[in-house]
Amino acid sequence: MIATIVGTNRPGSNSRRIGDELGRIYSRLGAETSLLDLAELRVEIFLPIAYAQKPPAFEPFARRVLEASGLAIIAAEYNGSFPGVLKVFIDHLPFPQSFEQKPVCFIGLSGGVWGGLRAVEHLQGIFGHRNAHVFPERVFIPRSGSAFNEQGLLQDPKTWHAWSSKLRAFLISWLESHIELEVL
Ligand SMILES: Cc1cc2nc3c(=O)[nH]c(=O)nc-3n(C[C@H](O)[C@H](O)[C@H](O)COP(=O)(O)O)c2cc1C
Repeated sequence: MIATIVGTNRPGSNSRRIGDELGRIYSRLGAETSLLDLAELRVEIFLPIAYAQKPPAFEPFARRVLEASGLAIIAAEYNGSFPGVLKVFIDHLPFPQSFEQKPVCFIGLSGGVWGGLRAVEHLQGIFGHRNAHVFPERVFIPRSGSAFNEQGLLQDPKTWHAWSSKLRAFLISWLESHIELEVL
């Protein structure tokens, strides 16, 4: 099972739209996914005490990351990096088992022309540090404000095909070669 992490808690985010689209792509490929939207994190995880005592509402998030065979992380560019809430989320997950030897792929997006390149590259540094298997083929979505239609679907079929082939490669070559697959 692939866990998709929507890496912001901004209400009505484009990251969530991408997460939903990614779920549709993986379901066409016959893979099981689980969506973790950081907008659903409860406020207790942001309290200082959470480092010593994890709030019970955080447990399902941590469990879904631990149980996942691979992670697809959607990261919008916020001020030249990824959203702060995603770093808080990473910092509260169990260490080291959450990411150790785990296949991870990244999808970046931004309002500007770089498509979240800086957000993804910062995350690649962190996940490299945490001994994850970082999939080298990254997906970037520039000008995110006009990438989706009113139904929240990707406007451009070329972008859709480019995504699908990279996400398929993550599933078929990357997950398969790094773990025992239970999804296919
Ligand atoms: C706090 C904040 C900071 C942002 N910083 C950047 C930035 O540095 N570069 C950029 O191209 N876009 C920036 N944007 C635009 C976002 O990348 C763009 O709106 C994206 O769709 C936001 O993702 P979201 O809808 O999932 O929150 C920023 C947006 C927000 C809310």
